[in-house]
Amino acid sequence: MGTISEFMTRDHRRCDVLMAEAEAAAEDHDWGKTEQLTRKYVEAMEHHFTMEEQVLFPAFEEQTGIIQGPTMIMKSEHRQMRGLMAQLQHAMERRDESEYLDTSETLLIMMQQHNMKEEGMLYPMSDEQLSGVDKIISEMQKI
Ligand SMILES: [Fe+2]
Ligand SMILES: [Fe+2]
Repeated sequence: MGTISEFMTRDHRRCDVLMAEAEAAAEDHDWGKTEQLTRKYVEAMEHHFTMEEQVLFPAFEEQTGIIQGPTMIMKSEHRQMRGLMAQLQHAMERRDESEYLDTSETLLIMMQQHNMKEEGMLYPMSDEQLSGVDKIISEMQKI
């Protein structure tokens, strides 16, 4: 079935592409397209966070016993990114292009750093240390 690293990294890349497309539409002043693509991007991110928060992180915490570690930090970064995504949608509703692009820039940097930590540490650690990786992946696919 593959590894958690492969499965989740592929999903990170999918979110990256959606975000770049939404940003390009905003730069083109095409608000109709920006709205449609931003919605798709936010949905993809929310879906990804849900897979982590409902399946992967609980499995990691349960099996390693590490609760106040990487998963705690990742969850708090998810909260910050959700705040930025709300800000992004707010800027979009007000058709405020500079606010939209500034927020999107901040969100991109935060997302890159977050993904780097997951891809460099949390996912490989999960593949190495957790039992039932196939089951974890298939549970995430159900979300
Ligand atoms: Fe995450
Ligand atoms: Fe992730």
